Amino acid sequence: MTAFRTLDDADLAGKRVLVRVDLNVPMADGKVSDDTRIRAVAPTINEIADKGGRVILLAHFGRPKGQPNDAMSLKHIVRAVGAVIGRPVAFAVDCIDADAEAAVAGMRDGDVLLLENTRFHAGEEKNDEAFATALAKLGDLYVNDAFSAAHRAHGSTEGIARKLPAYAGRSMQRELEALESALGKPERPVVAVIGGAKVSSKIDVLENLSSKVDALVIGGGMANTFLLAKGVAVGKSLAEPDLVETARRIMAAADKSGCAIVLPVDVVVASEFKAGAASRTVDANAVPDDQMILDIGPKSIATVNGWIDKAKTLVWNGPLGAFEVPPFDTATVAAAKHAAERTRTAGLNSVAGGGETVSALHLAGTSDDFSFVSTAGGAFLEWLEGKPLPGVDVLRQG
Ligand code: 3PG
Ligand code: MG
Repeated sequence: MTAFRTLDDADLAGKRVLVRVDLNVPMADGKVSDDTRIRAVAPTINEIADKGGRVILLAHFGRPKGQPNDAMSLKHIVRAVGAVIGRPVAFAVDCIDADAEAAVAGMRDGDVLLLENTRFHAGEEKNDEAFATALAKLGDLYVNDAFSAAHRAHGSTEGIARKLPAYAGRSMQRELEALESALGKPERPVVAVIGGAKVSSKIDVLENLSSKVDALVIGGGMANTFLLAKGVAVGKSLAEPDLVETARRIMAAADKSGCAIVLPVDVVVASEFKAGAASRTVDANAVPDDQMILDIGPKSIATVNGWIDKAKTLVWNGPLGAFEVPPFDTATVAAAKHAAERTRTAGLNSVAGGGETVSALHLAGTSDDFSFVSTAGGAFLEWLEGKPLPGVDVLRQG
């Protein structure tokens, strides 16, 4: 990973270090309900503080659209950050100008300060030059540890990195190394499992992957559109008939580059999408008119697991069925468990990411067994699409 400067290259003692973190965490009843993203950046914060740097945290929270907004204040998150990193965290009521400058001026080596939501200023999302300059004025160095916000070309993710010596934090470094190992220079065969409700949200992902991986397993509601494209009737199932041509184009592109497209051969159907709804397994080409596909069936699970057995590298995004409602989580849980097992016992490199994916792996109890689970939602998808990530590209050297 010589392409990026990391904390190994930075002289941190006595420096004011601006660290971009992603504290866009879920809340319930005024409390952080999942602190995964805070835990992800804790090593970077603690390493800088331990080396005598003054850690100034930059983050967004929600989408306040350039206006201060009490509900989206980072003051609600300060305590959770302190609890995770195990040291006091001070808070400044603004991220630039007098309030921020005074708070920074009062810091000592090893202190940690969280600045208010960067998105309270319109200049953040506009990546405004003056805003980035005002942020940069607060520090000597810049560290980006927020891979999950790196698809945004914002003041605190992109603009500032052009104004200060810029480094990847440890979480960013791990994300980039994992992603490089999965699609950059992967060990083959590479199998991608892509699920989720709609083809429309993942067209670019499927197109990009079809030229990069050896097998593309398609599950979830998306698979129904592919079945339609092959002339298979899908009853009342969720599907996007307008995208049948797109599905055909993706299948043709995959065929040309020698990528196997793996679709369900049997499916679990019910007459309604409801917990405990009476369901049964049918062949994929025998879906009754009044039934809908809600999961892939046992033969399909065995096929997916067979591909996972062949793989040296696995990229996973999206559930295989309507996993929020049991028993339609069966295939997702079974395949996730199988991938976890192959990771533990057969050296499979398994990389997963994307919002729903992380919940699905948690549900299967397997998130700790994958080689890497990204903290990113949108950024992980844009990476799967092969798009440049502005917050990453600006960190590249030379
Ligand atoms: C996320 O939660 O995916 C990141 O923090 C980015 O947030 P955004 O989608 O509001 O830019
Ligand atoms: Mg998002």
